Amino acid sequence: MTSDVARKTAELRQKIRYHEHRYYVLDSPEISDAEYDTLVRELQAIEAEHPSLVTPDSPTQRVGGTPREGFQQVRHSAPMLSLDNALNEGELRDFDRRVRDLLGHEDYRYVGELKLDGLSLSVRFRNGVMTQAITRGDGEVGEDVTENARTIRSLPLHVETDLAEFEVRGEVIMSNRAFSRLNQERETQGLPRYANPRNSAAGSLRVLDPAITAARQLDFYAYLLLANGETILDSHWASLERLAGMGFRVNTARALCGGLDDLDAFISRWREERDNLPYEIDGVVAKIESIPQQRQLGWTAKAPRWAIAFKYPPRQAETVLENIEVQVGRTGALTPVAHLRPVTVSGVTVSRATLHNEDEIERLGLAIGDVVVIERSGDVIPKVVRVKEHAEGRRRFHMPKQCPVCGEGVVRAEGESASRCINPDCAARLKETVLHFASRGVMDIDGMGDALVNQLVDQGMVKSVADLYQLTLDQLTPLERMGKKSAERIIAGIEASRSKPLPRVLNGLGIPFVGERTAQILADTFASLDTIEAADADTLQKADEVGPKVAQSIRSYFDNPRNRALVERLRAAGLTFTHEPPKREGGPLAGLTFVVTGTLPTLSRDEAKALIESAGGKATDSVSKKTSYLVAGEAAGSKLEKAQSLNVPVIDEAKLKELAGA
Ligand code: IVH
Repeated sequence: MTSDVARKTAELRQKIRYHEHRYYVLDSPEISDAEYDTLVRELQAIEAEHPSLVTPDSPTQRVGGTPREGFQQVRHSAPMLSLDNALNEGELRDFDRRVRDLLGHEDYRYVGELKLDGLSLSVRFRNGVMTQAITRGDGEVGEDVTENARTIRSLPLHVETDLAEFEVRGEVIMSNRAFSRLNQERETQGLPRYANPRNSAAGSLRVLDPAITAARQLDFYAYLLLANGETILDSHWASLERLAGMGFRVNTARALCGGLDDLDAFISRWREERDNLPYEIDGVVAKIESIPQQRQLGWTAKAPRWAIAFKYPPRQAETVLENIEVQVGRTGALTPVAHLRPVTVSGVTVSRATLHNEDEIERLGLAIGDVVVIERSGDVIPKVVRVKEHAEGRRRFHMPKQCPVCGEGVVRAEGESASRCINPDCAARLKETVLHFASRGVMDIDGMGDALVNQLVDQGMVKSVADLYQLTLDQLTPLERMGKKSAERIIAGIEASRSKPLPRVLNGLGIPFVGERTAQILADTFASLDTIEAADADTLQKADEVGPKVAQSIRSYFDNPRNRALVERLRAAGLTFTHEPPKREGGPLAGLTFVVTGTLPTLSRDEAKALIESAGGKATDSVSKKTSYLVAGEAAGSKLEKAQSLNVPVIDEAKLKELAGA
């Protein structure tokens, strides 16, 4: 291979890293997503052709890792201690007084930072390359979550620096947006919701399969730079700037505070603006700015004496549960919603909270009339966290036996938490289905909100999503809160939706358990709606992540003649029914799925994967019936056993190369 290729690869990587930094760290992209994708594809193509050029810090290697059997324990270079808390103004003053006394009344300054509500992570770099990421654990020893941390896009895998080795500590968080999206997706899949962004960030970083972490869209904010377990600069502020200069995401909501007054102002400011942040914070951290002074103050056994966490109170309030109303969703699921005596929680008036399902009400021991504690956290919709006081004459809630909208029967299937209306024509279900179909990220029909959908369904103009494609300007214009302009915009949105790609159409159908991700996988695997419609449950399960439950749900959907008729009408409306799956066509390994395990004689695991993919095969991380071959090297462990128990053929590196024609 010529050095030209190597040079080109290095340049391309640098360019991609630059744009990733603009996009993921600075939130200020300079090029379009499509231009960025083109660069990445160019790099992938070169790497596929020259697997030996693949390096672990290449932008293509974020999700290369294999799922683990467990996480390795690693000792921290210096303990990861926590912070002492100040719960009120008085405790903050006490802290400041101690600092002043210990520093012998020298001048000192604070740096005010936000206390992000996630989990702390220590990330090690050698020669500019990210080598290891460790969770806090018990503070002395944490868990090696390197492969998962690599998938966090705002955490660089490579930085330009003259430090041979260094360590960055910071917080891994899930933004409120990613959190709501995840919970929505989990709901479509019939999985329980996560309680708050912190729990889901922690859960996402500690899953065994890095592909799952990658899908969760975590973020990393750096707040400490260490070398050999020590802070390297003399100023904490300068070290934050250094981190930002190296390409790490450092919270811009920080301030240099001359004294307690400045710090108070910082604390008040973010107490007010807390709601406008895209993530959860639980307070503010104040750190002594000068590192020599930090050293002078030192540590207690538990926490540094040079920093304090000023905690904001949780955004909770007490109120009375006045009633429980039942809403009917798109899949017919009945969701109990709490009607509350209006109460202000950190500036926002709350009068409703979600209760999810019957079991949740049971778990909380809730009855109408009770005094309850509600909390706002991450999600748009507040939730009831516990019962504060049982009311006299409280009324127990029972799921209705009839649908509150159409009056038809309600059933709760064995093993499911949701009760569902059985009537496929239920107006409530239809409205939700239309709203889902038209929503952003699905068919993107701008302006198709509650008010319009209610009218369209109530007036019988829309009886299924296919009817949207027959709506005319004359029908829409006279509707309430409409007008010619809005009507035109909606018709244009409907027109534009005809060319949305197949994964969106599939998602839009609202098949239970088929959300955005599964729709994408199905389209990539089967390439057309007709193939999916015709596939039996076994065939459907050939797709990744599609198990018996999802396959059965897809089958039941298409077995229903009404749904098939709907699909035909959508076809006639010109919607996209075919899809071009990502590359991987052709090549000697086309159609084959490999898992690589253990240490191979010449190829690294990533190189072996690149080889498989460049030959048209698929490299996955866990062994299942769908695995065609296990490529095993030295010290192969439980995957080898699993492959043997499933009768998956086991081959070595030489055989892999032979099959790949390398
Ligand atoms: S400094 C010894 N800065 O809060 C200094 N921590 O209760 C250690 N946290 O475990 C931490 N935002 O997970 C620091 N800007 C920030 C932070 C922060 C969140 C978390 C961190 C730590 C916990 C301490």
